[in-house]
Amino acid sequence: MSGARKRTAILISGRGSNMNSLIAAAKRPDFPADIALVLSNRPDAPGLENAASQGIATAAADHKIYAGREAFEETMQNLLDLHRIDLICLAGFMRLLTPSFARRWEGRMLNIHPALLPSYKGLHTHERALADGVKIHGCTVHFVVPEMDAGPIIAQAAVPVLGSDTPQTLGARVLAQEHVIYPMALEHVASGRVRIDGARVVGACQRYSHPAMVVPEADFDEDG
Ligand code: GRF
Repeated sequence: MSGARKRTAILISGRGSNMNSLIAAAKRPDFPADIALVLSNRPDAPGLENAASQGIATAAADHKIYAGREAFEETMQNLLDLHRIDLICLAGFMRLLTPSFARRWEGRMLNIHPALLPSYKGLHTHERALADGVKIHGCTVHFVVPEMDAGPIIAQAAVPVLGSDTPQTLGARVLAQEHVIYPMALEHVASGRVRIDGARVVGACQRYSHPAMVVPEADFDEDG
């Protein structure tokens, strides 16, 4: 992928704080992606109003009114086509996608998960990390594949787990890092600086100053 800014859709179900971090990054003139659509399966998602107030096209496809996942996804696909979308960022989108939708967007759909995958797939990641007594937790941006919370990892950030942490304090520490790595991961993908090689993401990445972040298999390029 290279050339024009990639027309990107953000799919949300709720507050949209990650959506906001992506919108903010895409305001940079040199950012390789444009946020062309924010789409929600919940018409009352607070993030929709927020995106609209920033002049971004929004749409809702209420999953509850469709007979099944295929019909719901067909409507989403039509909206994505209408807006000529190149890339999708799932950002707190709380619907499971069918394998055929995931395959259709393979290599062009990203997700952010609030844990260091492949640990803690699924829900309640902060509670489970605390219960296990792990000392390091974090977040992951990955390409979406049919299996939930799997797929080639683009970027991860780690945070310490403190003895005094609650799920809320740990979640807030992780979320702050989500807002750092999601725009960076989208930048890498939209600019074509990373590619998928089997189960891994490889390619030249910017050397970045964030000490907690790891991009697996990054060939650090002195020039960029
Ligand atoms: C984030 O923790 C994200 O990792 C997970 O859902 C949450 C969405 O939060 N997938 P927000 O709507 O982006 O604030």
